[in-house]
Amino acid sequence: MLIRNNGPKNFARRNFIKSAGITALGLSVAPALISFKNPQEHERKSSERMFPEGFLWGTATAAYQVEGAVNEDNRGATIWDTFSHIPGKIKNNDNGDVACDMYHRYKSDVQLMKELNIKSFRFSIAWSRIFPNGTGTPNQKGLDFYKRLTDDLLANDIEPFATLYHWDLPQAIQDKFKGWESRDTAKAFGDYAGYVAKNLGERVKHYFTINELRTFVELGYGNGMFAPGLKLPARNLNQVRHHSLLAHGLAVQAIRANGNAGTRIGLAENLDVPVPIIDTPENIKASEIAMRESNAGYLTVIMEGKYTEKFLQNAGADAPIFTPEDLNIISSPLDFLGINIYMPSQYVQAANNADGYKTIPFAKSHPRSTSEWQVLGPEALYWGPKNVQKIWNAKEIYITENGISGADELTADKQVYDTDRISFMRNYLTQLQKATSEGVPVKGYFYWSMMDNFEWASGYDTRFGLYYVDYKTLERIPKESARYFKALAQSNKVR
Ligand code: NOJ
Repeated sequence: MLIRNNGPKNFARRNFIKSAGITALGLSVAPALISFKNPQEHERKSSERMFPEGFLWGTATAAYQVEGAVNEDNRGATIWDTFSHIPGKIKNNDNGDVACDMYHRYKSDVQLMKELNIKSFRFSIAWSRIFPNGTGTPNQKGLDFYKRLTDDLLANDIEPFATLYHWDLPQAIQDKFKGWESRDTAKAFGDYAGYVAKNLGERVKHYFTINELRTFVELGYGNGMFAPGLKLPARNLNQVRHHSLLAHGLAVQAIRANGNAGTRIGLAENLDVPVPIIDTPENIKASEIAMRESNAGYLTVIMEGKYTEKFLQNAGADAPIFTPEDLNIISSPLDFLGINIYMPSQYVQAANNADGYKTIPFAKSHPRSTSEWQVLGPEALYWGPKNVQKIWNAKEIYITENGISGADELTADKQVYDTDRISFMRNYLTQLQKATSEGVPVKGYFYWSMMDNFEWASGYDTRFGLYYVDYKTLERIPKESARYFKALAQSNKVR
């Protein structure tokens, strides 16, 4: 997965019809334009687009991408502080020192969430604010920040969903244990997770252990594009994968042991979603086989408690070293499954070969966002949850991230007309709604991201937010898509 800003030139754009009414919520114009001969027919058509009652709408962020205040209240350094300060690693040599300054502006940011009418917020806790050295003495001031934030969310009827690891490993852990190369890191993560669950238990009921195992392992330890910038050989990389899985399992156990009654635990994984090129029964079966195998190093182990035969065969002498007890820990039962879906990982077709499927490559002209890696394919938001339910019998699923980066610009009248983002949401959410209407148990959706932020190696140029951030003043400005999302959350219906 390449994380590089490719600019708008590759971005296939449609000619959108200019609509005079679109600056408002976009709702007032619709009824006047649509005239149904039969009002009941209109009603039926509208209800087809509804999400299930109680569907949870939310937005997501992550600590290093939004908080800033990296030297405040005893926060310890992380591998991203170190990495982003190495010249040439991040586009424009940006770093997260200030980011969106949410550490200080969280109260007004919670009001902005309220303005969107959302009922949940997914954020991450910075391990090094709680344990500045990764292990040892906890830092009360760090904990207090998350108490203040979650108190404020709850006071505004917004349910906090906390991620415990969104890639900002304490630098001390990298130095002491070689980070995820060691089992000690998995153990330290479990201890930190238990401590947070015990101390935030009254406020936070939903936890995600780790965000996107696949991304931080492959990019951070495999190709060096992310912190800590390593390019490990296959053997070590497999061990890093295994330790990250183990960390997830240990955290599940620690949260369950230390959290309040009713605490619910999941993870947020970057699911590979193979999409059938044509919906035939054979191709659908092929997409299931492909999904299980293409997630074999990550989610498949968590859901099944084993590495697939193919995975182990392919790894050969470089396979990870593990015990049966590790696999039990890794597959500790979850209360829900979070999946981050931005795109189809590939299109597939049934094939009479050893794999049982064949990959159809993406066309050169396949539409992409301004993030070169992001191929656009709304069907992923149907096939992702659908196959997760089918393969692993998942009972409760959240879309923990979905979003699009755009070349957002402020106009002279201080607006951002991000029609591309609205079109993206409408198309992807139509597919998600179809899945829920077929009984796929998706309970909520978190748009990535609440506001523009530090997009890792792509820096601040790559904007995913519903709120535009003016990085000179740190002012937040609602984009047109914020109004679209608000209407969606209010009506529980794709519009
Ligand atoms: C996945 C990550 O969890 C998040 O941190 C990142 O900004 C988005 N995808 C967009 O790339």
